[in-house]
Amino acid sequence: MRSDELINFGSKFLKKSSILTNRIDSEILLSYVVGVPREKLLISEKFIKHREIEKFRHLILRRSKNEPVAYITENKEFRSKNFFINKDSLIPRPETELLIDPILKIFANKNLFFLDAGIGSGCITFSILNELKNSRAIGIDISKKTLSNAKKNLKKFKNRVKIFCKPIDEIRNLRFDLIVSNPPYIVKREVKRLSNDIKKFEPIVALDGGNDGLDVIKKVIYKSKYILKSDGILALEIGNGQYSSVMKLLKVNNFRKKILVRDYRNNIRCIFSTL
Ligand SMILES: C[S@@+](CC[C@H](N)C(=O)[O-])C[C@H]1O[C@@H](n2cnc3c(N)ncnc32)[C@H](O)[C@@H]1O
Repeated sequence: MRSDELINFGSKFLKKSSILTNRIDSEILLSYVVGVPREKLLISEKFIKHREIEKFRHLILRRSKNEPVAYITENKEFRSKNFFINKDSLIPRPETELLIDPILKIFANKNLFFLDAGIGSGCITFSILNELKNSRAIGIDISKKTLSNAKKNLKKFKNRVKIFCKPIDEIRNLRFDLIVSNPPYIVKREVKRLSNDIKKFEPIVALDGGNDGLDVIKKVIYKSKYILKSDGILALEIGNGQYSSVMKLLKVNNFRKKILVRDYRNNIRCIFSTL
């Protein structure tokens, strides 16, 4: 069978299972199976071997049951770099990329020591360490399993990052120039309304922010007061619509806003603040 025929087959199969991204998912999965970049696959009419067809069908079946492509291929791009991902880690999101550029600008040419609270796959820490060569990091998470993915992704920086399995409340005796966090911020009762791709597969501990979505954000803000240097920066990703409640929390804890970053729909998604 030719690649274009198989891509059509996969796309139709996924469409029947109401997968909206059926075409691109089918292309990505075939490209993964045959080990040829998607762009190349689309301009050639490659003949696909029987063994590869079987594997492709199996992956299409998994995708038809809503398993995210990133978990099937164990890969997700974040700022054009590939990260190892499996069901133990939240899939890195484009909104989270918004945190990185302001950090790189503020701390360019400085000796940055930062904390990534809720490091997950390690995508935020990687992006900072990779660009700011004089930076060092501590990464923490309460999920032991996601930390093993973070360690894989951060292998090349093992001399500049230390990773611990602990909650933010337990960080003591350290002072950071920057605390960055993309905490779980979905309101508990909203979790069941998320798409099947998310609620059936992504780790609940990375999504559920408690009754008001702010459980972990509160902990990060409260703790940051004590572990941030006086001129340090707290950089938070927040959920859509959480700006005023998070700003209130920041003010009560003596933080003032420094930079706001909006997503492409003009929603405020990151707050940079300082004491
Ligand atoms: C939304 S995910 C973000 C993962 C990664 N930083 C990213 O941006 O893709 C939130 C992470 O925070 C972790 N987490 C949840 N509660 C925590 C807490 N109290 N202390 C530290 N980490 C926590 C979760 O296990 C999860 O990996």
